[in-house]
Amino acid sequence: TQRTSAAAAPATIGFSAFSGTAPASSGKGGPRYSAGAAGTGDTYFPYAGNGGYDVQDYELALRYEPPADPAVLTGRLSGVATITLRATQDLQSLNFDLRGLDVASVRVDGKAAAHGKSHGGDNAEWSQQQDDVNRIWELTVGLRPKLKAGQTTTIVIDYGGATGQPLDTTGALYGWVTTADGAMVVNEPDGAATWYPVNDDPQDKATYTFRLTVPAGKTAVANGLPAGKPKTRAGWTTWNWRASDPMASYLSTASVGDYAVSRDEGPGGLPIINAIDDGVTGEDLAETTASLALQPQMIAFLQDQFGPYPFEAFGAIVDDDSVDYALETQTRPVYSEVANELTVVHELGHQWFGNAVSPADWKDIWLNEGWATYVEWLWAEHQGTADVADEFADTVAELDADNGWTLNIADPGRDGLFDSPVYQRGAAALHALRAEIGDDAFFAGARLWLTRYNDSTATTEDFEAVMEESSGQQLDTFFDDWLREGDRPVMPQP
Ligand code: ARG
Ligand code: ZN
Repeated sequence: TQRTSAAAAPATIGFSAFSGTAPASSGKGGPRYSAGAAGTGDTYFPYAGNGGYDVQDYELALRYEPPADPAVLTGRLSGVATITLRATQDLQSLNFDLRGLDVASVRVDGKAAAHGKSHGGDNAEWSQQQDDVNRIWELTVGLRPKLKAGQTTTIVIDYGGATGQPLDTTGALYGWVTTADGAMVVNEPDGAATWYPVNDDPQDKATYTFRLTVPAGKTAVANGLPAGKPKTRAGWTTWNWRASDPMASYLSTASVGDYAVSRDEGPGGLPIINAIDDGVTGEDLAETTASLALQPQMIAFLQDQFGPYPFEAFGAIVDDDSVDYALETQTRPVYSEVANELTVVHELGHQWFGNAVSPADWKDIWLNEGWATYVEWLWAEHQGTADVADEFADTVAELDADNGWTLNIADPGRDGLFDSPVYQRGAAALHALRAEIGDDAFFAGARLWLTRYNDSTATTEDFEAVMEESSGQQLDTFFDDWLREGDRPVMPQP
């Protein structure tokens, strides 16, 4: 799917090919083709994602050389991205997001495009623009012939460059993070463009094939399931993975390390594939192994609460390096140094809340983090180690102590996306909602949310509407008090 409102797209940013709003005349009353917008108008990341098309499939053939000297965290990445997409408007050009990597060639339906930016000739053309201050990282492809709405095309992009330590707007490591022994790849929110040309918008979910070539002895692990055996030739091994469930780009991964891969099985024979770096040892390894062994039970528990596990597989990538957080990469979360039990159930919870149903705009992030935190509480209660009422009381006390109520979590600001009130106030709001409308309406509402918006995206307002539908109650004031107002809400009656 794709954002439908073109109105929110960013205006001209200084390059005619980026204008994206003014239709270009094709003359003689024929169809009017225009440049696809350079962004989707996300509240916090207006230039992430692009307009005018919907990606069906990414095939990413990557070759990666980890640092030669572990003290210098620079790697080499080269890739061929084969992107199959469908135009959603009559297009004369379109954009991908690509940050810090150089394009060598572009082919459109098998025909080579020329490097240039006039977009006036008979051949397809491409050019790159990079503006770090405004977070504008664009590869523009002029299309010849132009593309009519509804038509499908395949664009093949050859690219590459050095890899390092990209930072998100909060100063955290993300994207293709070069490690001493490989790479940890965690894109949330806008880091996918650090390793492939992408329509970096959660609204444009697609399937993925990964062909990851790394030095023999290294292991590359991506989303989904293995697609054939790894093949070694001339000192390089290619690992193939296929993610056949639609996936938002921020949830893709292709991590590289000294991983030992093991298989387990979840409910209904669900394949569980775990990759643990051989640098994870001692207590960290013991804790990781124990937490991952609980995955089948966690899946069974969450299926009872929220309905069928949404994807073809699950598992973990546990790296010995650290980005200081874990990420719910689809079907295969990435962990830093250790996977602890509550983090594992948190990332599992995200497979329903965040991955199957994704935020329509980054300001809706509490729908991900509030739910994943609430899932931690539910699991702890199920295991008998805590109860939800106490978790709620403790969290309210922390929000009181930290002045946490002042953050409007339905619009926490670009650099507040992962601030603790997004998690804590989010989970507290869900528990208060449950107290307000009762268990039946609450869990029925959660399931309605997950089925209605499965494989798609939704907003906070959509969530409020679902809960009003499920409960038959008017909840405007409730949600304003619990998500948005700057004061401590009135607590629910026990
Ligand atoms: N969604 C992750 C989690 O709570 C956190 C991601 C933090 N990302 C970042 N770029 N700082 O599981
Ligand atoms: Zn989370």
